[in-house]
Order: sequence, then C-alpha cells, then structure tokens
Amino acid sequence: MQEHQPLLFRGASLVDGRVDQDVLVRAGRIAAIGTALAAPADARVIEAGGGLLAPPFVDPHFHMDATLSYGLPRVNASGTLLEGIALWGELKPELTQQALVDRALQYCDWAVAKGLLAIRTHVDVCDDRLLAVEALLQVRKTVAPYLDLQLVAFPQDGVLRSPTALANLKRALDLGVDVVGGIPHFERTMADGAESVRLLCELAAERGLRVDMHCDESDDPLSRHVETLAFHTHRLGLHGRVTGSHLTSMHSMDNYYVSKLLPLMREAQLHAIANPLINITLQGRHDTYPKRRGMTRVPELMAAGINVAFGHDCVMDPWYSLGSGDMLEVAQMGLHVAQMTSQAGMRACFDAVTVNAARVLGLEGYGLDVGCHADFVLLQARDPVEAIRLRAQRLQVVRRGRVVAQTPAATAALHLPGRPQSVDWTLRR
Ligand code: FE2
Repeated sequence: MQEHQPLLFRGASLVDGRVDQDVLVRAGRIAAIGTALAAPADARVIEAGGGLLAPPFVDPHFHMDATLSYGLPRVNASGTLLEGIALWGELKPELTQQALVDRALQYCDWAVAKGLLAIRTHVDVCDDRLLAVEALLQVRKTVAPYLDLQLVAFPQDGVLRSPTALANLKRALDLGVDVVGGIPHFERTMADGAESVRLLCELAAERGLRVDMHCDESDDPLSRHVETLAFHTHRLGLHGRVTGSHLTSMHSMDNYYVSKLLPLMREAQLHAIANPLINITLQGRHDTYPKRRGMTRVPELMAAGINVAFGHDCVMDPWYSLGSGDMLEVAQMGLHVAQMTSQAGMRACFDAVTVNAARVLGLEGYGLDVGCHADFVLLQARDPVEAIRLRAQRLQVVRRGRVVAQTPAATAALHLPGRPQSVDWTLRR
C-alpha cells in the first residue's frame, strides 16, 4: 500500500450507535464519515461488514520495563505486592539494556496486534544506571510510527526512602521522560508520603509536566494520600493534569470520609486509574474471609464526575503471571469486579479503555471524528458491549491511515445448507 493511499472502510458500526457508516481516510487523518460515501479512484476499500469501528485501545497504566520477565529470577510465591517489589529489586541488577529493549518491543507487537496504540508506562528510576529509562526512551522512538508511548519517571523504592531516587528522577526528566511519578504509600511514614506528594507535584509544576502517582495501593483504609494529591493539585493549579493510579485503599475507606473525598478529587479534576486484573489479584491478600475485592470505587468515582480509566498494569512480570495486551480483557475484569452490569455500566467500561484513557494521557487528535488521526480498530462485534463479551477479534488495526495488524474473523466449518461459514455472535430473538 502507498504511504498516503486513501482508505475507505465501508459499512461499519460506530461506538455512538450509528450503523452502516463509511469512513474515509486521507493523508493519515479521517476525512469523512457518512453513508454511501464515494470512493476516490485510487482508494483501497475495506468492507467492515457491520463490525464496530472504534478508536484504538489506550492503556493508561503499564510497566514496560518489567514486562515479560516472569520467572526471572524466580516467581512470586506469596502473590503479594510487597514480594513483587522485592522480586523486582532482585532482578534489577541483572537487567541489561538490550534485554529490556527486546522484551518491550515484543510487548509492543502484542499491543499493536490487539489494537492497543497508546500506552503510558511507568519506568523505574531507582537504578542509578537508569538502564530502563534509556531503554524505553529508545523504544519510544522506535515504535512511534505504530504506537504512542508515554513514560512516567517512577521511583519504585520511594522518592524519599531511596537515597538517590530524587536525583535520578530529575535526570530521567532531563533525558525526556514525560510525566512525574511517585509512590507515597511506600515511603517510610504517612508524613513522608505526604511530603513526597508535595515535592513531586511542585517539581511537575516547575517543569510544566503531568503527574501520575501510584497512590494508596493498599488495603489500609487510612492510606489517604489521594487527599494530599488533590490538595496540591488544586494549590498548584495542576487541574486536569494529575492522575491517581490504583487508589485501592478507597475500597476499604469509611463511607463518610469518601463522601468528603470525592468532591475534592472532582474539584482538582484528578484522573483516577483502576487496574482491575492486578487489583483483584494483589489486594485482599491479608484477609481471611470475607476477602475484599480491593479495586477502587469505580462507579462512584464516575458518578462524581471524575474521569476513570482502566489500566493493564502488568503482563507476565513479578506481580502478575498472565496477560496479553488485551484491553478488552481489562475492561471485562473491571466490569465484573465493579459489578457494572447495566448497559450504561458496560459501555462505561469500554470508555475506560478507550476515550477516558486517552484523556488521561492528553492525546491529541484521538477519536473517531473528522480531522482526527486515522487510528482505529475494526472489531468482530456490533457494539462495545458485544466487544467486551467476546473479547472480539481485531480484524483490522489502522495507525495513521495504514493497516498495521490484521486477525482473521472466527469461522466454523459446519457445512449446513444455506448457512454462512462465518460465525454470527449476535443474539437472535
Ligand atoms: Fe503500577
């Protein structure tokens, strides 16, 4: 295919419920959307067959420096967050830049094949060599034609608790890392946690950067660093540029306190990220029964007007042994854990891995509208709920107007008279 050959998708369903829509792409942008569009003479035409043409999946929370390291140097026996951090600490001295790059690129292949075209990844800055930072900066450049990679300078061992973390974090930002990270609940004391939030927010304000902190990833109902994060966001005028990731302690907090907290988060225009696969796996490990789910209060945050996105967080690393870069799996787990089973709830879970996540990253030109980048995925499903239910095949993945991945539709060889071979997954009444 020529670099700027026009592309016309015929007969697609869209997320907003429109059906039978044609989408025309020119020069990497969406040029027109409508019914029965005329195909330019030099256009490549792809029949969508009523499939859902959606904006690409976006993962707002990932750890690409640790991905695909499962079993190195051993597996996490207890399955806890803290053993995962200790295990990552054992692995860090063994890392090489080439191994980091190779694993990250392999994951990017998986991501693109699954229609995942933008990822915000945290990168640990507590290794004085900054090997992972340099590796992921290289990967960010290499994969830029295929996916947007946004890097967060993440002081895994605590920006105050680890003696060289602050200096390393600043060096990482100087090298071009995009976002300021933090982990207040891992500092030595609550007071140190609050101090880390203050200094990291001030650093971001000075440099004009966004903030994304691992915040209150704990079952401790008194872990309230999100309150401090909202306070400094408001004080420094960082509205809409700060994200609280995980926020699992909110699951266990007192309801009255949460009724005060939610408006403060809304006032600061904080973004919230739940990581359903990881939260349901790591939280509640100290409980007997009943055992807490541990994921933050997703429907309540959404109802309060806070932008909530779902992240994958981990794939085959010290914290999680499964995963494949499939954001529909993430949405499906979030839907179950949050009991978001209404039609509106299920659709909101699709938004959590697409448009809401794009808002966290601040992506420009994202969406399925005229003038947006021609980035989208054709799913073997009619609508977002069916896409989640089926974890639908990504028939075509398009980036800047070029097809970058394809997966065949499911077929079945029941040679019955009058029936097509392609599987129809829709509900018949
Ligand atoms: Fe994380």
